[in-house]
Amino acid sequence: MAAVTYEHIKTCAQSGARLGRLHTPHGTVETPIFMPVGTLATVKTLSPEELEDMSAQIILANTYHLWLRPGEDIVKEAGGLHKFMNWDRPILTDSGGFQVFSLSERRKITEEGVHFRNHINGEKLFLPPEKAMQIQNDLGPDVMMAFDECPPYPAEHSYMKSSVERTSRWAERCLEAHARPEEQALFGIVQGGEYKDLRRQSAEDLVSMNFPGYAIGGLSVGEPKDVMNEMLEFTTPLLPDDKPRYLMGVGSADALIDGAIRGVDMFDCVLPTRIARNGSCMTSHGRVTVRNAKYARDFGPLDENCNCHVCRNYSRAYIRHLVKANETFGFRLTSYHNLYFLLELMRKVRQAIQEDRLLDFREEFFEQYGFNRP
Ligand code: GUN
Ligand code: ZN
Repeated sequence: MAAVTYEHIKTCAQSGARLGRLHTPHGTVETPIFMPVGTLATVKTLSPEELEDMSAQIILANTYHLWLRPGEDIVKEAGGLHKFMNWDRPILTDSGGFQVFSLSERRKITEEGVHFRNHINGEKLFLPPEKAMQIQNDLGPDVMMAFDECPPYPAEHSYMKSSVERTSRWAERCLEAHARPEEQALFGIVQGGEYKDLRRQSAEDLVSMNFPGYAIGGLSVGEPKDVMNEMLEFTTPLLPDDKPRYLMGVGSADALIDGAIRGVDMFDCVLPTRIARNGSCMTSHGRVTVRNAKYARDFGPLDENCNCHVCRNYSRAYIRHLVKANETFGFRLTSYHNLYFLLELMRKVRQAIQEDRLLDFREEFFEQYGFNRP
């Protein structure tokens, strides 16, 4: 029996959007879902109790960061990530590939793996696919990710082709090295940038390896919005209907809706929590930058259409004051609201799929939201 299985409930009559359930060793997740990011085994500023409170169903952590500190040996000794951080719902970890590429300078990619310098102390490190598997086996998430290369945008076709081929060879090595397939699902990651032929090649390679789930990587790396949507529209039909699809690193409200419409089941992004720490809030009318002077005497909620704990109890004026004074509590309030907003958005997306009206929902949402991207 596979560690993680996907149960398809229905497809929206108006679009390719899928309503489903992901069954994991730590419970069931309703899809499409947004996964808050807890890079260092904490969703920044929030407690696991608060995450449960806002109905977060699954969170993400990062192999790369937890490898560097505290070290996967300590997490393993604690009894695994769930115990270590006191979160007993599902967890997914990214493999470290993307983080190595985005955080460290002077990295060198070889067939064996990636040589780079630790972003904290400059120490020389080497991360091959086998190591990324061992770390994730020790951390113990429900879903772990294959070690891939996410090239920058734009990249030459010839570079992208050799990168996709290497990512496929690394995926084979990941499957081979994965020590606990009965307890942890390993997802493959489709790459290929903006090139359809390479997206097809990557998807075909990975599908032939029979992963229990597939991610679509290499998007939201600076390409125009239409390119992302076109790549999704092209790629999701190449993936098996009975496995989950995960779009990596995407978390703006419009992209979540547009991704769900194209058959994506899972999303993650630091965006809602990162912008929260700048005092930017996602609302049904678009982005509210609460630092703005015009909110100094605004005693209404962040979003009058939001029913979260923050919007029911605190005003824009108060949150503005806290954020401007750099008070921790201000960042807790904006982080809580932003995550609640996206989780609630996905609940509405699921309901719209259930009612065969996701395209209508999209129109209604955008009408109110405007087209500024939070
Ligand atoms: N996070 C966002 N994009 C990617 C990607 O392409 N690969 C991995 N491993 N993580 C990501
Ligand atoms: Zn709110």
